[in-house]
Amino acid sequence: MLVQGTAGPYSIVKAILPVILALSVVLHNQSYAETDDADCAVVLSADDAMRFSSAEIVAKQSCSVISLTLHHTGRLPRASMGHNWVLTKEVDFRGVVSDGVMAGSANSYIAEGDSRVVAFTKLIGGGESTTISFSTEKMKASERYVFFCSYPGHWGIMKGTFLLT
Ligand code: CO
Repeated sequence: MLVQGTAGPYSIVKAILPVILALSVVLHNQSYAETDDADCAVVLSADDAMRFSSAEIVAKQSCSVISLTLHHTGRLPRASMGHNWVLTKEVDFRGVVSDGVMAGSANSYIAEGDSRVVAFTKLIGGGESTTISFSTEKMKASERYVFFCSYPGHWGIMKGTFLLT
């Protein structure tokens, strides 16, 4: 045990530790979404500044089906600020994105029948919402998954990690 009353480095760490912990909880909450125990549902939003409300989604492996709702909280239309939510393995990300551009707006920038796509929502504009349900049967906890918006150019910023735990 350290002598009580000293103001050494240990005391300083001890004094600021609660602050660090509190701060990390705040930062964590800002960029994190997870499935609800009750209904395996994830809700996130996207805005006119090309941002998803979460940079990371954590889903429980016990969820055999996950429901995902995307709210577009912006005002810009689908044609100029369209957003969708696409889930793939990280290794498939580049290919899905470039084939999606070719597929065009009418297909929500996802190539028809692309088997690399684990799940995707349609492309929506400001003020709209969309919900999908998808099976996790073929997903593996050991695999690295990413989610992104496949609207041309948006995936550079609108991208996050999807974890099954
Ligand atoms: Co977008």
